[in-house]
Amino acid sequence: MARILGIETSCDETSAAVLEGTGDGAALKSLVILSQDIHRVFGGVVPEIASRAHLTSIVPVVHRALSEAGARLQDIDAIAVTHAPGLVGALLVGVSYAKGLSLSLGIPLVSVHHMEGHLFSVAIEHPEAVPPFTSLLVSGGHTLLLDVEAWGRYRLLGATRDDAAGEAFDKVAKMLGLPYPGGRYVEELAREGSPAHFRFGRGMLRKNSMPSDADYYAFSFSGLKTAVMNAVKASDNLDADKADIARAFHESMIETLVEKTARAALEMGRDRVAIAGGVACNRTLADAMRKRLAAEGIAVFTPSPRLATDNAAMIARAGLFHFEQGERSALDLGAYAVRPIPGVIAA
Ligand code: KG4
Ligand code: ZN
Repeated sequence: MARILGIETSCDETSAAVLEGTGDGAALKSLVILSQDIHRVFGGVVPEIASRAHLTSIVPVVHRALSEAGARLQDIDAIAVTHAPGLVGALLVGVSYAKGLSLSLGIPLVSVHHMEGHLFSVAIEHPEAVPPFTSLLVSGGHTLLLDVEAWGRYRLLGATRDDAAGEAFDKVAKMLGLPYPGGRYVEELAREGSPAHFRFGRGMLRKNSMPSDADYYAFSFSGLKTAVMNAVKASDNLDADKADIARAFHESMIETLVEKTARAALEMGRDRVAIAGGVACNRTLADAMRKRLAAEGIAVFTPSPRLATDNAAMIARAGLFHFEQGERSALDLGAYAVRPIPGVIAA
């Protein structure tokens, strides 16, 4: 039994959580997420502002997570902190604070890769979303398709060759005059649109493609983004067309994500799929994935929105795994903008 304090500051959410238990039986005791709304004014995350905002909120956020869990600092067994990938200045706030706590309390520090955190996020609420399973990680910065043989053993099947799925959502939202971050606004607008007006291609989704092809599991969204831009430019009444454009974008995006994930689950013989990352908030994606995979006898799991977007609960959960494996980080732990997911084995 261990009680883990998780800390996440990789982008524009200052978050802390307390998780307690053993392995897949661990229970979430508290989760505090402070979103930095200031970035909406700029239409994207401003790194310098993000770092400063983390600095002012990290202490109260951690204290709040402890008090909501009914725990004191002395009751914590280890601190799990995101150290990569992300904005280095933002990551450093969490990493430095976690180091200070570790040193002053004399308890272990465990570093966590942000995307491995997302990978673990689904299991916090769904006891069945544990290995072996297929994982689709779709966030603002990443699009990864992984076969999870066991916790800590990941086969990277596919990734995006250009934009991440969430990034494509956000850019399309901007083109359509929707607020930032735009994923959920694009999803809402697409529901009002007609599927018959526009049709955009599906990047790297050839029907006769084989598992041995280099792009069988790969994603590409830049062509889709350009198609949206061309449709926006060609429209002489964008107000009338924008829901139809959003609909066509959404259909292309979702069909690609669903088909590539289905290929991975079928090829690897998995009967469970977990979708994680901010784009996992998309209900249309989850419904389409369920519809496509139900016939194959494959179950689909998604986290609730609080656990899908950036949060410290997933960092505590991944940290608990590494803690139980006996892994410890030294006080010279660094923060990295880019870093491979630990435990990735050759495809
Ligand atoms: O995982 P996350 O919170 O941050 C990163 O690590 O990037 O993901 C944020 C992304 C944004 O691009 C946002 O537009 C997208 O998740 N997102 C959505 C939806 N809700 C959030 N994308 C599509 N549909 C949604 N409903
Ligand atoms: Zn994330």
